[in-house]
Amino acid sequence: MSFPSTISVVEITGPGGPEVLRPATRPLPHPGPEDLLIAVDGAGVNRPDVMQRQGLYPPPPGASDIPGLEVSGRVMMAGSKTEGWRVGDPCVALVAGGGYAHYCVAPAVQCLPVPEGLDLVEMAGIPETFFTVWANVFELGRFGTKDTLLCHGGASGIGTTAIQLVKAYGGRVIVTAGSDERCQQCLDLGADLAINYRSEDFVAEVESFTRGRGVEVVLDMVGGDYVARNIACLAPGGRHVTIAFLRGPNAEISLLPVLMKNLTLTGSTLRRRPVEEKGRLARALKEHVWPWLTDGTVKPVVSHRFPLDEAERAHRALEAGEQFGKIVLEVPNA
Ligand SMILES: NC(=O)c1ccc[n+]([C@@H]2O[C@H](COP(=O)([O-])OP(=O)(O)OC[C@H]3O[C@@H](n4cnc5c(N)ncnc54)[C@H](OP(=O)(O)O)[C@@H]3O)[C@@H](O)[C@H]2O)c1
Repeated sequence: MSFPSTISVVEITGPGGPEVLRPATRPLPHPGPEDLLIAVDGAGVNRPDVMQRQGLYPPPPGASDIPGLEVSGRVMMAGSKTEGWRVGDPCVALVAGGGYAHYCVAPAVQCLPVPEGLDLVEMAGIPETFFTVWANVFELGRFGTKDTLLCHGGASGIGTTAIQLVKAYGGRVIVTAGSDERCQQCLDLGADLAINYRSEDFVAEVESFTRGRGVEVVLDMVGGDYVARNIACLAPGGRHVTIAFLRGPNAEISLLPVLMKNLTLTGSTLRRRPVEEKGRLARALKEHVWPWLTDGTVKPVVSHRFPLDEAERAHRALEAGEQFGKIVLEVPNA
């Protein structure tokens, strides 16, 4: 098989607005012995890509400076130390960068197969949120089948994933979203309660819905003044898991409920985890979550698709909060 020596990518020309995303040409990336070379069909667009573009979230050492943390496509080359992958296999991959490109290199352990019948481009929106929700709700948050999750940003990629995985697992999920329409979309996807955070007090709504008990786990991406209110929503023994802080990293809280309710405050970030750790998460997803994707219990939720060279428009849509679930870039592969 012959490969081009250069490939089309979208690069960040300097910190700034969506206009700094420009089509460019780069050398074909070369897979190491433990990597796959993937011909990309789809690349997921995520909030961290926006932060990287703004100069606020530099790629970790050794990672590509090309944005893009997840791709779908077909295996073009499998390194000598990889197992189970053949040229032509459809796959999705979690990557530390380099997704906005025609070809991408991914550690084989961070790749997962695409179940038959699922749209390869839409599958690009799966890895980042599925790895994150699994790691934070089910592992760090120790979510149980009888538990209730409060997840902010129910209409986001993370939120739509949390709704689906919690329902597939048998638990209950309460979400917040910024309009009645977005709340309805969350309910249609399976949320047990959707609270419009602009017009309703989520603490009071959670208390009423759980009959005063509270929720076992909060997945928080808002931070700031939400943390104290989240803590008020937690049941005895509850877990508060931080994955982002859209309203800022500083929170003033009373430690009294932490003591009295025996709470756990924790959080994590995915991108900086070592490859082995991401490989372990991929194996857990394959065992626990992939059967739900295969039988249709869980599906990619993609509201917007843009061609790769229109990544600028994709970022504008993400920043305007237009999406329900994910935005993906479609990569033409001749
Ligand atoms: N730690 C990790 O490993 C990790 C991994 C992946 C993502 N993340 C983070 O997770 C967050 C979600 O990512 P994403 O790409 O799925 O979605 P996103 O596009 O960043 O969505 C942000 C969401 O936040 C909601 N939101 C904003 N202000 C809010 C408020 N005051 N109350 C309740 N909700 C509010 C928005 O709701 P409405 O649009 O309905 O108003 C929107 O759904 C991002 O901040 C991202 O950086 C963290």
